[in-house]
Amino acid sequence: MPVSYAVIGASRGIGLEYVRQLAARADAVVFAVVRNKQRSTHLLATIANLNNVHVVEGDVVDYESMKRAAEEVASLNDGKLDYLIHNAAKTDHKTVFLGFYDYPSMDALDVDLMDAFKVNTLGVIHSVTPFVPLLRAGPTKKIVVIGTGGGDPKSVLAVGIKNMLAYCATKAAAVMVATKWALELKDEGFVVVTLTPGLVDTSGTTGDAAAQENMEKAADDFKSVGSRVVLETPESSVRQQLQVIDGLKLEDNGRFLAHNGPSFV
Ligand SMILES: NC(=O)c1ccc[n+]([C@@H]2O[C@H](COP(=O)([O-])OP(=O)(O)OC[C@H]3O[C@@H](n4cnc5c(N)ncnc54)[C@H](OP(=O)(O)O)[C@@H]3O)[C@@H](O)[C@H]2O)c1
Repeated sequence: MPVSYAVIGASRGIGLEYVRQLAARADAVVFAVVRNKQRSTHLLATIANLNNVHVVEGDVVDYESMKRAAEEVASLNDGKLDYLIHNAAKTDHKTVFLGFYDYPSMDALDVDLMDAFKVNTLGVIHSVTPFVPLLRAGPTKKIVVIGTGGGDPKSVLAVGIKNMLAYCATKAAAVMVATKWALELKDEGFVVVTLTPGLVDTSGTTGDAAAQENMEKAADDFKSVGSRVVLETPESSVRQQLQVIDGLKLEDNGRFLAHNGPSFV
């Protein structure tokens, strides 16, 4: 039986790279969950000659669509799934770097924070819930929620990240959601972790001209406080993330892990 992976938010960036590297494994079947198949042009180009990747539509803000996605995966994979990798996040470079005083009004701040909460925090619940029965039916029972050092108060203080208000606050809440799933599913032998990918230049697939400049500035900010964080390629980050995922053990349940070692910064 092949090892099955669902990557939620697989159209581009880190999620796309997960699909690419997992699909290269001889024994893998990959379910690439995307909001819109036709618009996932980078994904479609990447998997054009692959027969072990299935593209499934699902939007993590829309629970009904995630239920349909899980039903489709179940019908294609004998009701089972080994690994759920929840990668989707609101990363829009027009808003993701905003801090308290960067919004034109409190209403605008409210809207952005609520939108980010729906994708980054509620999205984890919408995506994990319908896949739990499939994971239960398989032997592996691993859930990986992609997090960020920006969701860890100690790292945010160490690097002095004043901006990225909505992103950091809602990704921090997502760590708590993953922690709750870890406790909820512990007695059934699940391992649920949050895993940070490091600082990863995904500008090649964002379609946003400001993205690369923003990522390089972020790398400079880390460097200026003596951090060991460097800007990485999706290939390098995901290769290291998969080493962590391949080595997950029961005692890792509930942990907040980094792709390259024990601390984020
Ligand atoms: N890049 C970094 O340096 C970095 C650092 C720390 C953590 N992370 C984390 O790594 C993960 C991936 O980030 P990335 O840099 O690869 O971002 P990205 O290139 O902007 O990709 C984001 C992905 O999320 C998907 N997505 C957004 N909203 C969605 C929704 N409502 N439903 C389903 N999918 C949705 C996007 O799909 P569409 O194409 O449909 O928009 C896209 O596939 C995120 O969880 C992020 O927080 C990244």
